[in-house]
Amino acid sequence: MADPFDRARFHARQWLDNLDTCPAGAQTSAAELRAALGGPLPETGRDAGEIIDDLAAKAAPGLNANASGRFFAWVMAGSLPSAAAADWLVSAWDQNVGLFSVAPAAAMIEEISGEWLKDLFDLPREASFAFTTGCQLAHVTALAAARHGVLEKAGWDVEEQGLFGAPAIRVLTSRNRHGSIDSAVRYLGIGQSNMVDVETGPMGDMLVDDLERKLSHYDGPIILCLNAADLNVGTFDDFKTLIPIAQAAGAWVHVDGAFGLFARVSERLRPLTEGIELADSWATDGHKWLNVPYDCGIAFVRDAEAHRAAMALGAAYLSPSREARDPNDWNLELSRRARAIPVYAALQELGRQGVADLIDRCCDHCRALVSGIGALSVPGASARALNDPILNQGLVRFERPGASHEENDAFTDEIIARVNATGEAFFSPTTWNGRRAMRISVVSWRTNEQDVARTIAAVTKALEA
Ligand SMILES: Cc1ncc(COP(=O)(O)O)c(C=O)c1O
Repeated sequence: MADPFDRARFHARQWLDNLDTCPAGAQTSAAELRAALGGPLPETGRDAGEIIDDLAAKAAPGLNANASGRFFAWVMAGSLPSAAAADWLVSAWDQNVGLFSVAPAAAMIEEISGEWLKDLFDLPREASFAFTTGCQLAHVTALAAARHGVLEKAGWDVEEQGLFGAPAIRVLTSRNRHGSIDSAVRYLGIGQSNMVDVETGPMGDMLVDDLERKLSHYDGPIILCLNAADLNVGTFDDFKTLIPIAQAAGAWVHVDGAFGLFARVSERLRPLTEGIELADSWATDGHKWLNVPYDCGIAFVRDAEAHRAAMALGAAYLSPSREARDPNDWNLELSRRARAIPVYAALQELGRQGVADLIDRCCDHCRALVSGIGALSVPGASARALNDPILNQGLVRFERPGASHEENDAFTDEIIARVNATGEAFFSPTTWNGRRAMRISVVSWRTNEQDVARTIAAVTKALEA
């Protein structure tokens, strides 16, 4: 009987060691995966080591190699070695980080990691924080605090009285927002019809005069959501102008910084985030640009009391700690895994300087990919860069001379599918300003110059074909 931990280590090592040679994207279908992995619920148990071997063999064809340096889809990376290894310990230790008394070391690591992150992002040191499953739940957490804050100002205790009969909250958002803001607004009972789109310019940044106009229409509680980088071209809203205007109108300002908040760490990119520190809450992801394993978002809230009021849970059998932070005062969940531990490891593996280097490197590789692919031209087809990347997000489009926009939309999708089928690189499509494009999103510590060259070669071949 093989030790399941030895087998897991063997398979993990094999997966990580082969990232340079394996296909960048999964090469199987849902039907094949269902056939390989499915079957009736087992009636009896079996050997744990065998389960791990079987799992590794059957899942492998359906694994996307987002940990490889040639994966540029969505905003997905692989984990830093210390973060992935620390995550194994999270499972082995199996701590329930709801309260300090229930998981002292894990709660303390979370407390320290949250403080380190505020320092890293240079956010107000008095801000509270929560480690969530991802940016989606970081939005829910921060916007729950916002809901508390704006209704309290209107004389309404939302935790006590609920939303029935409460003053209507308007959520002003960029037209160019991520859908997770809409979901958060729905989950919090504010309702999609209370969202107000603020118009954006050609690169997707919020227009100041339209914000002023929209603010002047409402005198009740207002929350404004801004973007620290949209996921098509990495556009940042103009925080230093927009935030004071919104706050002067009494609004709570929340920033979606799922990956863009990391620009603040780089000396070169920090100007893009000027004024972001003026906001009232921020949401980001560790599992994006910090390269820690999945299940790691972070919410920060300037008004810690509003945050605590929205989240804290009191139960007779749970005794609050007097000496340390209790995570469940700040989180939606009570029982949960110790997801800050990989963050603690990653911040030590990189240090502030290493995070800045990672961010700069990804942006350089994105620029190289966009200009390299954007310059491709073969008989009967060519590529065109749609933006000059300011961050780590780029767009290119593929065109045939004389073809209509619609035909080139389809051609762009076809080239993406061709590249992905080779396994040499992996991209996801998008629609930007009404046209299909290939997104080039670089977020991995592993991506290097060879990956960039290999990817450009793969796209050239797909275009020639
Ligand atoms: C800008 C932005 N906001 C929010 C999210 C949601 O993050 P998560 O998937 O971690 O919940 C994403 C995910 O891609 C994003 O890019």
